[in-house]
Amino acid sequence: MTESFDNALKRTHNCGQLGSDDVDSQVSLCGWVRSYRDHGGIVFIDLRDREGITQIVFDPSDNTELHDLAGQLRNEWVISVAGKVRPRGRERVNPKLPTGQIEVVAGELTVLNKSDTVPFEPDSTEKVSEDMRLKYRYVDLRRAEMTHNIRLRHSICRAMRSVLDEREFIEIETPFLTKSTPEGARDFLVPSRLQQACFYALPQSPQLFKQILMVSGMDKYYQIVRCFRDEDLRADRQPEFTQLDVEMSFVTEADVMEVADEVLREICRVCDKPFPESVPVLTYTEAMDKYGSDRPDMRFELFLRDASEIVKDCSFKVFAGCLAGGGAVRGICVPGGAKFTRKEIDGFTAFVGDYGAKGLAWCKVESGAFAGGVSKFLEEPVQSALREAFDANDGDILFFVADTPVTVNKALGALRCKLGEELNLFGPDDFAWCWVTQFPLVEWNEEQQRWTSLHHPFTSPAAEKIDMLESDPGSVRSRAYDIVLNGVELGGGSIRIHSTDLQGRIFSLLGISLEEARSRFGFLLEALRFGAPPHGGIALGLDRVVMMMVGATSLRDVIAFPKTQRGFCPLTGAPAKVEDKQLTELDLKIIAPPQK
Ligand code: AMO
Ligand code: AMP
Repeated sequence: MTESFDNALKRTHNCGQLGSDDVDSQVSLCGWVRSYRDHGGIVFIDLRDREGITQIVFDPSDNTELHDLAGQLRNEWVISVAGKVRPRGRERVNPKLPTGQIEVVAGELTVLNKSDTVPFEPDSTEKVSEDMRLKYRYVDLRRAEMTHNIRLRHSICRAMRSVLDEREFIEIETPFLTKSTPEGARDFLVPSRLQQACFYALPQSPQLFKQILMVSGMDKYYQIVRCFRDEDLRADRQPEFTQLDVEMSFVTEADVMEVADEVLREICRVCDKPFPESVPVLTYTEAMDKYGSDRPDMRFELFLRDASEIVKDCSFKVFAGCLAGGGAVRGICVPGGAKFTRKEIDGFTAFVGDYGAKGLAWCKVESGAFAGGVSKFLEEPVQSALREAFDANDGDILFFVADTPVTVNKALGALRCKLGEELNLFGPDDFAWCWVTQFPLVEWNEEQQRWTSLHHPFTSPAAEKIDMLESDPGSVRSRAYDIVLNGVELGGGSIRIHSTDLQGRIFSLLGISLEEARSRFGFLLEALRFGAPPHGGIALGLDRVVMMMVGATSLRDVIAFPKTQRGFCPLTGAPAKVEDKQLTELDLKIIAPPQK
């Protein structure tokens, strides 16, 4: 035993560090007992810390007392060991482990803390439910994969900061207790005690503050910042998530995109991932036409094409009828797809049904002619025109959807991605970046019967059709840009409106009255009156960037303490009821929810 506990904490190395060069050195390590094995009286411990694993040996022939103490160790106990490094016996060398050539023969052992039996072993979580992993997150985070993810997240933040610091951006914090920001989601509200019946909103992003910082002359701002959005959660959405938020003055789209490219290039360098010399730029229209999506997965071809012109007079009622009603008929040609069975095609039909398509028409190409499916409804001139337009050859299959343009693109865009995955059209290491630009400024919202922003209401319209803002808003493009990787939107931004008048016109287009605008964003409108420079910016979703860099499929795997799909934190039990006293202080009362 060591003479003092404090001495036992003095580490010479970490558990991932020792190798053949250290043989015969006297070392001391601290960590967790990862596993315990007794081989014919000799005890082997795998000692783990965040850097790795080192094998420790307790041999009774060296030291009986120490060996007996080692016999009491259990998994996840926290210990300190001092001893001498020696090469492992040939049969015990572990080539998979960086420290696999050596082991440490223990001369001293201090138990720093015991552990109850853990609910699961950090290294065997395959059968453990995610709820358990989140409830005992501190055990889960000991797992090498999780430690790696969290550390890579740190390296990515550092890469972001290094590029922006180098370019003289200033990191500025903005308030969390603030007013609602319109990013399209519901706000999380915080009741105020000092001003009863009033609420703060947690920011959905620092959008308004960063614009005000530009008015303040800060010129180049950034912040790695938490954002809060009360929306329906998915694998790539968390109620609180982190953005790299950037804003710049006196810039055009190209300036902001160039900074974002540099940040992403540095992140990819740190993560050992490819980043292109120049990122392809697609307009929104190109993206929708070819990929059926404004976040195109460019890892594979398989483009959507329009068939409307060709089939508008054909005798297939589904096509002709849809076109007569103002819809569109579009399709994809899948090379080699003629081998799909009836069952597989039915599966694809059900799949597009989930995206609102009423059916999936198909034709196979055999011996230079269409066969099966809806072939019989398509006359020869139509068939050959389709074959030519879709570049269809023997052995291919053509899929068509007839519907509103929005539904056609949604359904075929999703089918395209499904086919890309099922047909292995891309490799696990493929990285395909693109910028999407020239979005429509607004889109018509059927449900609300009004125009809504595609990005947010502070996005500047492109100059070209600015005169059409009132007469044909749908035709006006915005100065927004999104960065997309493998079909995932990693970030988005825009050049902003810096004139009060134009901002007012946009609010009125969005059906936001002057009064409402004043009460919600009056402070911004006012700021714009006092020397607002032309400005623009972007926000990258940090969690999504890390998720893509580590190849995870859920944001929860790259956030230390994430929430479940239901917005619940299994570790802390949040959200939770509060004491009546707290409610009284806030002058709030819970009205019992209606019985279900
Ligand atoms: P936007 O709303 O597009 O833009 O958000 C920017 C990026 O943030 C990430 N993101 C999310 N990540 C995880 N969970 C969520 N719930 C979530 N929501 C968004 C995405 C997205 O691309 N103020 C503007 C930016 C700007 O105009 O400068 C904004 O917030 O990766
Ligand atoms: P039906 O005449 O409804 O039996 O449909 C014949 C074929 O057309 C089936 O393969 C349907 O899946 C397909 N189909 C029906 N509606 C549509 C549509 N809106 N778009 C594409 N294919 C459709």
